[in-house]
Amino acid sequence: MTTIVNRLHLLLTLISMSKAMECQQFRANLEADNKISTQAPSDNLHAVSFATCSRSCINGCECFSFNSRSNMCRLYIHRSSCDPSNMTVSEAGWRSYTIFEIQPTETLPLDCKSLYMNGKRKSGVYTIYPWERSDPNYRPVQVYCDMETEGGGWTAIQRRVNGEESFYRNWTEYKLGFGSPNVDYWIGNNAIHQLTNGRNLSLRVTITPMNGGSVSFKMYHQFYVFGEDLNYTLQLAVPGNGNLDDVLLYSSGGRLTGMQFSTFDVDNDKSSYNCAATYYGGWWFDNCDYAYLNGPWLSNDWHNPWHSQYTTAVDVNGTSMLIK
Ligand SMILES: *[C@@H]1O[C@H](CO)[C@@H](O)[C@H](O)[C@H]1NC(C)=O
Ligand SMILES: *[C@@H]1O[C@H](CO)[C@@H](O)[C@H](O)[C@H]1NC(C)=O
Ligand SMILES: *[C@@H]1O[C@H](CO)[C@@H](O)[C@H](O)[C@H]1NC(C)=O
Ligand SMILES: *[C@@H]1O[C@H](CO)[C@@H](O)[C@H](O)[C@H]1NC(C)=O
Ligand SMILES: *[C@@H]1O[C@H](CO)[C@@H](O)[C@H](O)[C@H]1NC(C)=O
Repeated sequence: MTTIVNRLHLLLTLISMSKAMECQQFRANLEADNKISTQAPSDNLHAVSFATCSRSCINGCECFSFNSRSNMCRLYIHRSSCDPSNMTVSEAGWRSYTIFEIQPTETLPLDCKSLYMNGKRKSGVYTIYPWERSDPNYRPVQVYCDMETEGGGWTAIQRRVNGEESFYRNWTEYKLGFGSPNVDYWIGNNAIHQLTNGRNLSLRVTITPMNGGSVSFKMYHQFYVFGEDLNYTLQLAVPGNGNLDDVLLYSSGGRLTGMQFSTFDVDNDKSSYNCAATYYGGWWFDNCDYAYLNGPWLSNDWHNPWHSQYTTAVDVNGTSMLIK
């Protein structure tokens, strides 16, 4: 019995293909060790390593055999070629592998909510995959996940803990993101767009006061950020609960919803001057703001972090923007 179990044991090998961050998975059938197919390979080549051989198994190749002694690599179009019943010729050093597809959308977490649903319950830095593999923007994104606050599963799109990261950044930097998710970072406007696109998410803004007091927050619903073609216009529809005033939707001093994003080098605000350059950060400035989480840390130039509860930078010891 033990030997049967051993013989049926499947060795799973995950090979990263660096070029397109593509992952292919192969199943090694140890039953066919030191055996070679009776069928003719579609290709028979020399490979410096197993990894090189596996990377050659593309364009319809369904299975391959690699000989670790002679470094020969044989590719087959039909997976039946690597079936043990068709691997009857003995030759030392061969091991055969059958390819099977990973379904990226099924296995790779889209956001912190997916990770939470998969049992991750500890707040910290995780990797998420907001884009499909076929998307030209595809890239894994490192984020901070809050797995404890209000049901957990929150993806931080902005986070400031100690002020070590400058938020005085240009358009491209705000577009692609900057900083370190375990401390201070901006996830990137194109990631925010992608994460909110076609979904119906809530935004939870938090501010930690500079006196050891408890964290203030404000919830918003139907949070959405348009794409770069619309300069990452901010859209929020419904304010939720929280002990921070609502200054994104209904403030008498201006509504940030509907505003385009601005940086010092791309000025889309409603002011006669350049708010992003004047207040040293990127944001959905109006004329200019009653809420602004990306100002210069502990500086007098950080204008109105959150009117009227936090009017100067020295009141603020941390911020976050969480979505779910
Ligand atoms: C062996 O290969 C042939 C194709 O040449 C296929 O018809 C047959 O099903 C294979 N045997 C097994 C057990 O897969
Ligand atoms: C934006 O900043 C980055 C990093 O400093 C720099 O490499 C890039 O050239 C800047 N882009 C523009 C358009 O100024
Ligand atoms: C978003 O969800 C809320 C409930 O949370 C619902 O009332 C609203 O109609 C939804 N909006 C859209 C555009 O699906
Ligand atoms: C600011 O936050 C840090 C932790 O990030 C904490 O160690 C420090 O005591 C806080 N300072 C004040 C004045 O609240
Ligand atoms: C986006 O911003 C650029 C630069 O400020 C501007 O030229 C363009 O008209 C804006 N696009 C829209 C749709 O408003």
